[in-house]
Amino acid sequence: MLEIKNLKKSYDGVTILHDINLAIDDGEIVSILGPSGCGKTTLLNLVLGLADADEGEILFQGENVLNVPMEQRGFNIVFQDYALFPNLNVYKNITYGLRNNPSISTRQEVEDLIDLLGLREHLDKKIEQLSGGQKQRVALARTMVMKPKILLLDEPLSALDGVIKESIKAKIKQIARDYHLTTIIVTHDPEEALTLSDKVLIIQNGTISQYGKPDDIIQKPENDFVKEFILNQLLIKKNNIFTLFRQGNEPKIAAQVG
Ligand SMILES: Nc1ncnc2c1ncn2[C@@H]1O[C@H](COP(=O)(O)OP(=O)(O)OP(=O)(O)O)[C@@H](O)[C@H]1O
Ligand SMILES: [Mg+2]
Repeated sequence: MLEIKNLKKSYDGVTILHDINLAIDDGEIVSILGPSGCGKTTLLNLVLGLADADEGEILFQGENVLNVPMEQRGFNIVFQDYALFPNLNVYKNITYGLRNNPSISTRQEVEDLIDLLGLREHLDKKIEQLSGGQKQRVALARTMVMKPKILLLDEPLSALDGVIKESIKAKIKQIARDYHLTTIIVTHDPEEALTLSDKVLIIQNGTISQYGKPDDIIQKPENDFVKEFILNQLLIKKNNIFTLFRQGNEPKIAAQVG
């Protein structure tokens, strides 16, 4: 379990994250959702160890990792721009992290990930020859061969659309389930958060607005921000909304938003 307790972060005297408290069970997919500048990437960076917190605790399996250096936390991130090596082919990108630590993943485990992510036919290609969705899958494979204890994804779907977006969403879900891997995904798209995750963390101005299961957030929004930011944006995407309401409760939702 990952537990965040009373976490605070400021930059240049300005408080960015106020008092963050949450718990994530092993193997859960959690989305961090909120408008631009609300502190999503900052929270991800604190968990990863890329930035230091001012106060609070980050407990992983009961141990406070706040003062554990990033490399030793064993969490891993896929950055929004993928950060792949343009001069290396796909296979070398995927296995890059193993060159000094070949024992982390067996050859078979690497091969399994290549097949799971549908990359076998692209292994000899240069990165520039790939589509956005293919690059995203290479970035996922490169992170997964390192067997992270927690997988962090910053806006993994924002550069993608349509069928490609749906297929990457399915791959992320499958990886989290197959590897029983705690996965934290930053997004500013409510539909993405509600369809992809077990729980959604909604942040407004560095404070938790609501944290819960997608169904609870849709049916019991705890405040006006959640109602307006989440549900109104969803209604704009009316064509997609019915996929969210599998239990036939559309009229109730519409009434709540109105
Ligand atoms: N290294 C930094 N130094 C100073 N201020 C920072 C730094 N990193 C982030 N901030 C500030 O913290 C706030 C939150 O930034 P953050 O990147 O966490 O937002 P975000 O929710 O990820 O936004 P977006 O959706 O646009 O990516 C912003 O006001 C930003 O300017
Ligand atoms: Mg961000």
